[in-house]
Formats: sequence, structure tokens, C-alpha cells
Amino acid sequence: SMTPLQAPTDNSFIKKLRSSGRSLVVFYGSQTGTAEEFAGRLAKEGVRYGMKGMVGDPEEYDMEELVNLKTIPNSLAVFCMATYGEGDPTDNAMEFYEWLQNGDADLTGLNYSIFGLGNKTYEHYNEVAIYLDKRLEQLGATRVFDLGLGDDDANIEEDFITWKDKFWPAVCEYFGIESTGEDVSLRQYRLTEFKDDVPDRIFTGEMARLHSLQNQRPPYDAKNPFLAKIQINRELNKGGDRSCRHIEFNIEGSKMRYDSGDHVAVYPINDTELVEKLGKLTSTDLETIFTLTNTDEESSKKHPFPCPCSYRTALSHYLDITNNLRTHVLKELSEYCSDPSEKEKLRLMASTTSEGKALYQQWIINDNRNIVHVLEDLPSCKPPLDHLCELLPRLQPRYYSISSSAKLYPNTVHITAVVVEYMTPTGRHNKGVCTTWLARKLPEPDIDLPVVPVFIRKSQFRLPANPQTPVIMVGPGTGVAPFRGFIQERFALQDEGKTVGDTILYFGCRKQSEDFLYEEELQEFQKKGLKLYLAFSRDQPHKVYVHHLMDQNHDEIWKIIGENNGHVYICGDARNMANDVRNVFLKILMTKGNMSEQQASAYLKKMETQKRYSSDVWS
Ligand code: FAD
Ligand code: 2AM
Repeated sequence: SMTPLQAPTDNSFIKKLRSSGRSLVVFYGSQTGTAEEFAGRLAKEGVRYGMKGMVGDPEEYDMEELVNLKTIPNSLAVFCMATYGEGDPTDNAMEFYEWLQNGDADLTGLNYSIFGLGNKTYEHYNEVAIYLDKRLEQLGATRVFDLGLGDDDANIEEDFITWKDKFWPAVCEYFGIESTGEDVSLRQYRLTEFKDDVPDRIFTGEMARLHSLQNQRPPYDAKNPFLAKIQINRELNKGGDRSCRHIEFNIEGSKMRYDSGDHVAVYPINDTELVEKLGKLTSTDLETIFTLTNTDEESSKKHPFPCPCSYRTALSHYLDITNNLRTHVLKELSEYCSDPSEKEKLRLMASTTSEGKALYQQWIINDNRNIVHVLEDLPSCKPPLDHLCELLPRLQPRYYSISSSAKLYPNTVHITAVVVEYMTPTGRHNKGVCTTWLARKLPEPDIDLPVVPVFIRKSQFRLPANPQTPVIMVGPGTGVAPFRGFIQERFALQDEGKTVGDTILYFGCRKQSEDFLYEEELQEFQKKGLKLYLAFSRDQPHKVYVHHLMDQNHDEIWKIIGENNGHVYICGDARNMANDVRNVFLKILMTKGNMSEQQASAYLKKMETQKRYSSDVWS
């Protein structure tokens, strides 16, 4: 049956633009919703400049129609494009991206502008947007305003509004639009609350099909997750005040298959206490059943999330209530302040003045304020909950590197997850949504096992096809996760009598006695031939990291990557580790392989394209 979020649509965006008198289309390449949110904001703002806009998912539309967009007078295509992994487009933009790369469409007359979403801690910063910007021009299109680049490691909201602030005047000038750019705060969705006549089809946390969690039916994917039983949930740390969980999900009967290196996604539920607080702060009865319906009847997105549902369900399952608030939300909130100074504070933070930006950076980002914190600290601000439900972003599934091998565990998926918990500068105790929720789901004897909605996402992170190929794996902290699966797999093959090449793991943690994850298991594999290098960063006065140990093993590493066609894998926190590790590989290529810096860099690039140098990093 059809998903409630999608209306049957035509895949012609030109038809849609024409029939509704629009000239602006904003496409997005989005994985976690930020690019989609930015696209929505741009499309909505178009009205202020007499350019009615629509949002487009490149996966839903025939993108080859870009060739004909010029048939609509004064038309403009904007792209909000995220870059993921090793410079890759998001899933929904993949086909479009390949069409641009491989085709030679004539885009003469197409007006465009691009905002990229990336993260500077990754090597391939914003490559998708940079490429797209260049490629569209090559194909004859006209850049109306300069490429904007957002850095999610710093403050992507600020990057976006700063770009947007210059983008609109440039658009107006280009098209000769005379506009005051007056603020029009328009609700995108119309509210219906059901008081007496409650509908009998009510969503309770499903991602798409009603009752899909009660009546489970394969195939399972992001819209139709599998309810997996948690059969093991144990602490991996032996000391210290942090927690890292080893969790095993039972996937029997799901027909889901996985390979070592794949990810499992988990749909968490928000903390009940925060949900209750939002109900109180907005004086709303959380049991009320409601529906939000798009006022734009042409939109393919009828509802912001599955409706009708209760406010409790929306806040628990569908909305992100813990992120740092974005500026357009602050601006809308300002309308609901009775205290003028609170109103002014919100308006200032939503502005692009340097004072406003600084205050936003301090009060929202540095102080880590989410919607609950903002409403607590601005007591005169009383927005209706349904408007918040329209403004807050969707709660996203969390991804985990699978830490088991399907060869040994075809019926379970294991993960290795650090529980996120920290104090904010305002003295609040923030808890990671998914890891805190998972950590409490303990299997107990004589009662039903806890269940969580999951799906599996295939990755490119793969062991060499030939087990004789030697591998070097670098995975400090939870970066060890996929390597536990790799190691299980390699030694299972060895047990079967196959010849297996060198299997080398660089692992690092703070202290041997505290967070040496899977210590006993790894020691057992050592007896079978695993070469294990251990960097305990805090067991001595000076830091020892994985790349320091690699720097002492030039001969062994060169033999593997320079002489024996070996594979290299890096996994874990993206922030600095992956880069530090890469630099040591470059150094080894230069010293042992007599390469110049440029040659070494080209060598690693080639290894990457051959899938001999892979990383699975997150931040
Ligand atoms: P959230 O509620 O999402 O909170 C996390 C956020 O809180 C952070 O993004 C940061 O903004 C903020 N934050 C955290 N600490 C602090 C601090 N000290 N001060 C201020 N702000 C802070 N995680 C694993 O543990 N194991 C894995 O194997 C793993 N694999 C991954 C693979 C991929 C491809 C990706 C994308 C991520 C992976 N992650 C992994 C990360 C994981 O998806 C979640 O991001 C993580 O578990 C936190 O989720 P959460 O819901 O508990 O926390
Ligand atoms: P630290 O916390 O003592 O700085 C897992 O998180 C391990 O990775 C910890 O021992 C951590 O050390 C270490 N680590 C931190 N930064 C690193 C980097 N740039 N390269 C390698 N390891 C790092």
C-alpha cells in the first residue's frame, strides 16, 4: 500500500511549476534532513521576492527536464547538496549526479545556484557541491550567485544564513525583481485537532505504513524497519566513568542479510522527561490527536510526519527535540514572546548582523540549548505546540558500524556504542538520544526481550575478495567495531583451512584497565595470528596514539601497502585521527617508497579508487 507521506505524483517538476505559477525549484541531496530543511526554507522565502518556489527531491523527479527549465520565464534552480563519505552524493542524489557526470546535456539558459553541506573534518570537504557548481557551468548553465559552502563541524546554520543573505539580493538583481523582501511568516501546514471525533487510524511511531510495527512484513528498510529483539546488552568498559555497550540485535526471520563493514540504523525514541517538559512548557495535553496538512496542495509531502498521531507520539518518535535550534525557528519563536526583551533577543539571534551571529554562537551553539532549554530560559515565550511540530526537524535514525561477521552470526547484528552524556555550560545534563535509550534496554529473564526498530545499510567498507591479501586496520575507540567483524571473518576462514594473509590491527584507548574494548576476544585472536598494536593514550605521562605506533613500523607497513598489494582500513572519530593516520602513511610512502610528497599522495588516491584504502569515519 502507499505510504501516507507520499501523494501520487507526476515526475515532471516543470509541469508542477507551470500549473501552480511557480518559477523557483529547490532540489536537495540530503541524508540526515539538513539539506532538505535548507531547501524548504529557500523555497518558502521565494514568495517574498515574487518567486513562488517548490522543493524537489531529485529522486522523485525527472532531472533531465533541467534542459527545459528555461521555457519558464525567469526560472531558477537551486541545489542544496550534501557530501558524504569519500566525496559521495547522498543516496537520493546519486542518479542525478551520475547523469551529470556521464552525460552531455545542453543546459544553456538554465539559471542555477548551489549551497553545499559538508564537514571540514573530512578529507573530501563539500566535493559534491563544488563539482556540481563547476559541471553545470561546463554544460552551459548560468550561475546566478556564487557557490556557498557550509561546514557542519563549525556552524552550518550561520554559513547558510550568511550565504542566503547575499543570495536573495543577487537573485533580485539578476532577474530585475524590485522587492522589499518583506517578512512573511507563513504556516506551511494546517492544524486539525480531534477532540471528540477521534479517527481510528492513528500512527504510533511507524515510519510509513500504519501498524507496520505490529504487523511486520519484509522487505525491511528505512521506511519499514524491523523490530529486532535485544538479546545481549553488556558493558565493555571495565572502569572509568564512561560507558560503552556491546549490543546484539536478533534479526532472525527478517530476511535481512549483512556483510562485515555494513551499518545498522536504529530509530530511537526521545527521553520521556523532555517530552513531558515540552507538554508543560506549551500547556498542551500530549494525548490530543492531531494532523498537520500541507497548505500547498501540489506538494508531494502532505504531512511533516505520519499523521494523525498524538502530540506525545510526534515528540517521542518523529521530531528532533534535542538539537541546537536553528535561526529560522528562533525567529518564529520570537512572535510568541510577551516580554519585549525576550522577543528582541530571539530576533537578534535570527538576524545576520555580527552582533546577532555572535549571540547565536554563544547562546545556542556554545551553551548547547535545545527547544526545551530555550523555552525554560525565556519564560514569556509560549508557542503553540503544533507550530513547534511544524518547525522542528525530523528525528533521524542513528547509524552504527556492525561489529560482527555474518559468517559467524547470521542471525544477530552486533554493535559497539559509546553512551553519549555530558554537562552543558548552563549546567544541564545532556544525554545522547539513541545511546541512552539503548543502554537502558536490558534483556531480563522471564520477560519479553526489549525490541528496537532497525534496518541495515550496505556500505563500501569491505574485506578484500581474496583472503590471502594482507590487511592493516586502524581503529581506536569504537573505531574497532567493524574490525571485530573483519577479524572474526578472517579467522573463520583460517579455521576452515584457507590461507589468510596478515591481519594487523592498531587499536587505541585511554587506559588498558578501563576502555580496552574486547580485550579478551582480541587476545584469543592474537593466539591465532592477529597482530595487535595497542596505544593506551593515558597510561603514561605523554600521549601515545595509534599513528605513533604506525610511525615505528615503517618496514612492516611498506611491505604490505608497497609490495604485497595489501588493503588499509581506518575507522572511528573523524576529527583528527583519520588525518593523522593518513599523514603517517604518506610519510612511509616517501621514506620507504622513495616517493615525493606528490607521488605519495597520488599513490594513496589510487589506493582509494582501487578500494585498497577505505575509511569509515564519523564525527
Ligand atoms: P545524540 O543525541 O545524537 O547526541 C550526539 C551529539 O551531542 C553530538 O553530535 C554532539 O553534537 C553533541 N555532543 C556529544 N558530546 C558532546 C560534548 N561533550 N559536548 C557538547 N556536545 C556534545 N557510534 C558508536 O558509538 N559506534 C559506532 O560504531 C558508530 N558508527 C557510526 C557509523 C556511521 C556511518 C555514523 C554516521 C555514525 C556512527 N556512530 C557510531 C555515531 C552514532 O551514529 C551516533 O551519532 C552516536 O551514537 C550518538 O547518538 P546519540 O543519539 O546517542 O546522541
Ligand atoms: P585521548 O582521549 O587520550 O586523547 C579512543 O578515543 C582513543 O583515541 C583515545 O585513546 C584517544 O586519546 C585517542 N585519540 C585522540 N585523538 C587522536 C588522534 N588524533 N589520533 C589517534 N588517536 C587519537
